[in-house]
Amino acid sequence: MASGNGSNFEALVASCRQGPLNAVVELLVVNNPGCGAQRRAERLGVACQVIDHRLHPQRQSLDQALLLAFQAARVDLVVMAGWMRIVTPVLIDAFPARLVNIHPSLLPSFAGLDGIGQALAAGVALTGCTAHLVTEQVDGGPILVQAAVPVLAGDDHSSLSRRIHQQEHRILPLAVALAAQRLGPARLDQG
Ligand code: GAR
Repeated sequence: MASGNGSNFEALVASCRQGPLNAVVELLVVNNPGCGAQRRAERLGVACQVIDHRLHPQRQSLDQALLLAFQAARVDLVVMAGWMRIVTPVLIDAFPARLVNIHPSLLPSFAGLDGIGQALAAGVALTGCTAHLVTEQVDGGPILVQAAVPVLAGDDHSSLSRRIHQQEHRILPLAVALAAQRLGPARLDQG
């Protein structure tokens, strides 16, 4: 699941294809038609479905559409790789311990919108990124992997974001592997 640029999506695909992650990215779902993630999927040859949230005024209805897409693709695990919508129990309960999110801060600090801007505004010396399981509490589920990123003198949103993204690309595949390991092969096979 991606809403924007899709660099985390591409990192996951790369980790599956060249790297250590023993998985296949079966489907990308985007909510913003024409977003960078969709273009990356085309370039990478990954199936991509657009599910525009503007056509689903209710959050539950958007999640129902997502759920149908994931069930049709028979996926075992779902990753919110830069998904900028709040998800509901419709999706969360369908993938218990199988829904992973990446967030650009060291949770529980700076949950919610613009974790990077929040860290800069707070003047912290250390921030980072967190991959975690998704629960109903926004950005509050069990943490799988974190990476710390120092805030350097002169950092602005874009320079800090670049270094956080580098770490996100490293920890997200690790988090997916960890989530799968926690479930074990039997649970994953039940799909
Ligand atoms: C990432 O930094 C991710 O942590 C953040 O969106 C960015 C997506 O980048 N997600 C959130 O803020 C979710 N609350 P990408 O499109 O290049 O992967």
